[in-house]
Amino acid sequence: MKIFLDTANLQSIKQYNDMGLLDGITTNPSLLAKEGGDPQKAMEEITKIIKGDVSLEVVATDYAGMMDEGHKLKKYGENVVIKVPMTADGLRACKSFTAEGIPVNVTLVFSPNQAILAAKAGAKYVSPFIGRLDDVGQDGMALIAEIKQIFSNYNFKTQILVASVRHPMHVVEAAKIGADVVTLPPDVLGKMLKHPLTDNGLKAFLADWDKLQQGQK
Ligand code: E4P
Repeated sequence: MKIFLDTANLQSIKQYNDMGLLDGITTNPSLLAKEGGDPQKAMEEITKIIKGDVSLEVVATDYAGMMDEGHKLKKYGENVVIKVPMTADGLRACKSFTAEGIPVNVTLVFSPNQAILAAKAGAKYVSPFIGRLDDVGQDGMALIAEIKQIFSNYNFKTQILVASVRHPMHVVEAAKIGADVVTLPPDVLGKMLKHPLTDNGLKAFLADWDKLQQGQK
């Protein structure tokens, strides 16, 4: 399973990239707004830090606008994936970008039918938002399992990119289902590497070592 970081925060991107954990990045207009500053500069810098796929989202809602924006975003780097919304215009743009050899991530997916259509339109990634489904009392992870089964039935090449992840158990469940990618907010990735027994164990090792040193004096 690939791990993407779901952020526009350069410090977090550098931190986890230095640990060798990141296969890519997803951004969206809200994540860029959270960081402030010049979004264009931030997007360009991210594509330079990260070798893997970097999803950059269009904000136009019509086909022509999406195509125009997408072509501009693609200039930031070879690794840019154009993120389009799961709308009729978004699917049309997905088909056109794909025909040009530009990879697409179809975002804001909330049903198996939407995932099927994104795959048919040639998307490289489909992004089901599991946390937002959980928020409204639906089972986000059940959607991942359904899409996985459907894509396997027909050997669809589109990768399932699990988005709107809220906690580390989402990651474990997505991995058990066999999702291709999870995109994680930095705090979720941070929680994945922690365990209280690791901290306690390390503390005890260091205390015992210290005692041994004291005894030798
Ligand atoms: C995915 O690409 C989105 O950026 C993201 O996962 C949305 O998550 P949220 O529901 O926490 O905003």
